[in-house]
Amino acid sequence: MAFRLPLLPVVVAALAAASWRPGLADPATAVGALPGLPVAGLAVGFYNESCPEVEDLVLAEMRAIVAKDWTLGPALLRFMFHDCLVRGCDASIMLRSRSDKGERDAVPSYGLRGYDEVEQIKAKVEAACPLTVSCADIIALAARDAVYLSNGPRYPVEAGRRDGKVSAKYDADNDLPPPSSNIVDLKTYFSVKGMGWKDLVVLSGSHTIGRAQCSTFASDRLYNFSGKGEQDPSLNKTYAATLREACEAGLENDTTPVEMDPISPRTFDLGYYRDVLSNTSLFLSDQALMDDRWTRAYVERMAAAESPEEFFQDYAVAMTNMGRLEVLTGDNGEIRETCAAFVR
Ligand code: HEM
Ligand SMILES: *[C@@H]1O[C@H](CO)[C@@H](O)[C@H](O)[C@H]1NC(C)=O
Ligand SMILES: *[C@@H]1O[C@H](CO)[C@@H](O)[C@H](O)[C@H]1NC(C)=O
Ligand SMILES: *[C@@H]1O[C@H](CO)[C@@H](O)[C@H](O)[C@H]1NC(C)=O
Ligand SMILES: *[C@@H]1O[C@H](CO)[C@@H](O)[C@H](O)[C@H]1NC(C)=O
Ligand SMILES: *[C@@H]1O[C@H](CO)[C@@H](O)[C@H](O)[C@H]1NC(C)=O
Repeated sequence: MAFRLPLLPVVVAALAAASWRPGLADPATAVGALPGLPVAGLAVGFYNESCPEVEDLVLAEMRAIVAKDWTLGPALLRFMFHDCLVRGCDASIMLRSRSDKGERDAVPSYGLRGYDEVEQIKAKVEAACPLTVSCADIIALAARDAVYLSNGPRYPVEAGRRDGKVSAKYDADNDLPPPSSNIVDLKTYFSVKGMGWKDLVVLSGSHTIGRAQCSTFASDRLYNFSGKGEQDPSLNKTYAATLREACEAGLENDTTPVEMDPISPRTFDLGYYRDVLSNTSLFLSDQALMDDRWTRAYVERMAAAESPEEFFQDYAVAMTNMGRLEVLTGDNGEIRETCAAFVR
């Protein structure tokens, strides 16, 4: 086993020396930026009085949605990432543009699903509590329940976000990391938002459920690694052969879906870390977690862990951090009746 025991005490000591939420370059000195701290206006149970049934309503609707089509669970988890990384968690991903200049029209939004389901949940919530619950909070609650309904943790979700009124293709194109990212790129995309290496390696564990289209990885990993027309030498050869069967060469926009954790694509577990360790993860950005000593140590430890408990606890913290990015609270933003309003 490639598990490096000597590294472990170092990691533990460094984590203890840093704050509870280590930052970027050197975990021993760098402290996570603002999202690790509580944000005024956000609270677990924000709707206790104004809409006490909101969490039950979201869960019931999510149950119905994934019972009909399990692939929508992972889609709605990814949805929160695409909302929060671009202009913060403000549901701006839901806004529509008549001139194709909104976040929805950006390259990274290609293949993103869940727009109709967010609107469907919002309609149920509107019927019970008119003009009370934001679309941004619904996205965060739906993501949590997608995790829960895949056997993951049902961690507490802060609410109190309000919805933004601006959506720009440009922002989504710039702020979301492409799957070809290397470790330096990934840490940069996360750090500009105030998230550190731990958020990166923990949230990447989301790729333990769901699917990706061939077009998102076939060129990088199977047919044109480094632009040299080769297969990625770090990709497990057995697995690569399976992927080549699924994804034909030379198809630029191949939408064929491939499961990201082939062993348990519907279960929120440690499978992702085992995939990364055995060189059977799908994206260069997944494999890249092996190129930094801290993210690598985490992958190795989780791949060898007997229980997902530590990962689940870390996941709750990291999702809370992501859920605090650039939020609108108080009198900022708005609560609107439908999420997918037209702007510009
Ligand atoms: C670290 C950088 C990340 C990169 C480069 C990345 C990239 C991607 C790509 C290219 C896909 C395939 C989309 C498709 O073909 O339809 C995907 C799927 C997915 N991503 Fe990520 N992602 C990242 C981080 C995250 C985070 C932070 C989350 C959640 C918190 C997440 C959750 C998911 C899920 C659940 C899917 C499956 C979606 C589905 O089955 O429809 N990803 N990701
Ligand atoms: C809402 O109620 C829960 C359960 O009683 C409690 O833990 C939480 O702190 C409350 N939140 C607010 C903002 O009142
Ligand atoms: C492979 O990538 C290189 C460099 O990006 C590009 O010039 C070439 O056309 C690509 N080959 C194929 C078959 O897509
Ligand atoms: C996995 O990929 C790494 C490069 O990231 C390489 O050093 C290692 O030898 C590969 N392992 C296997 C079993 O292919
Ligand atoms: C693939 O999609 C892009 C963007 O939608 C488009 O410009 C291109 O023509 C498509 N290529 C093929 C071979 O269909
Ligand atoms: C390569 O992947 C196969 C499954 O696709 C797995 O059985 C094997 O253990 C992997 N090889 C290594 C060296 O991790």
